[in-house]
Amino acid sequence: MGADAFRYDGKRALVVGGATGMGNETARLLLDLGAEVVVMDHADVDIAGVEAIKVDLRDRSSIDAALQTCGGPIDALFACAGAADGTPGIERINFIGHRHLIESAVASGALGRGGAIGIISSSAGLGWEAQLDLINTLLDTPDFDAAVEWFETNESVKHYMFTKRAMSQYVARQSVGLLKQGVRINALLPGPTDTPLAQANKELWLEFGRDYRDAVGISTSKPSEQAHALVFLCSDAASYINAATLVADAGWCSAGLSGGFPPATEAVHFLMGRFG
Ligand SMILES: NC(=O)c1ccc[n+]([C@@H]2O[C@H](COP(=O)([O-])OP(=O)(O)OC[C@H]3O[C@@H](n4cnc5c(N)ncnc54)[C@H](O)[C@@H]3O)[C@@H](O)[C@H]2O)c1
Repeated sequence: MGADAFRYDGKRALVVGGATGMGNETARLLLDLGAEVVVMDHADVDIAGVEAIKVDLRDRSSIDAALQTCGGPIDALFACAGAADGTPGIERINFIGHRHLIESAVASGALGRGGAIGIISSSAGLGWEAQLDLINTLLDTPDFDAAVEWFETNESVKHYMFTKRAMSQYVARQSVGLLKQGVRINALLPGPTDTPLAQANKELWLEFGRDYRDAVGISTSKPSEQAHALVFLCSDAASYINAATLVADAGWCSAGLSGGFPPATEAVHFLMGRFG
């Protein structure tokens, strides 16, 4: 296949959360690479050449209706929608809704053998191993409504970091069953990326790691830099990559862990759930 393995000619891609930010860049890149592109979002989608379908990830019936409209095949499914702390229903947007959409697409056969799933988690989702047992009880819930109920009894973890850890662990755990069906699943864990969501939370999201970026002479990530990595993960060029949680933070986490950049060490240990 050579360089064509990076392309999407003849493939149909679904981008969930493609109205703005990284999902938007992902949809545009997929068009460039030859894909037929469907974008789902609750906001209006302004990309020429894609099929836009409204969906509210907080609402199971909205997801079911959107999938019905989309139909199949879905050769690559990109789960890019997300919300920050303070957003009502954050657990549905960041985890429950995406899971329902992915599992419904697989169960219906729309997403089948040869397909791939790429999820945007976050560097905030790095430390899933620290809450492995608790997250497994969430992943054990069989469906959308049971997961909603799980969060009602675990109110204290209805927050961004936990939903992102849950997504990272979901990828790790589901990868076996999905691969048996010929479907790969991977996640991208971006560092601070200049998007509307990050701008709306800029004191926290875009200031994070500024000392590292200043020291190495880079800026925050552009959404297109994350889109390139995500699109690669679902391409045939990544055919042996499965269950990966690819950190795209320009090395901040590794520098903090290894002592290469000691000012980041404490924050990295916090994110990874390693104290002391
Ligand atoms: N920007 C960052 O610094 C950063 C870093 C790490 C991870 N992330 C994650 O990246 C992903 C993309 O975020 P972004 O930064 O590009 O932000 P963004 O706000 O530009 O994109 C998020 C998209 O999700 C959609 N969305 C939100 N709620 C929805 C709902 N209920 N139903 C359907 N769609 C909905 C929005 O309309 C938007 O198009 C998110 O999962 C976010 O948590 C962002």
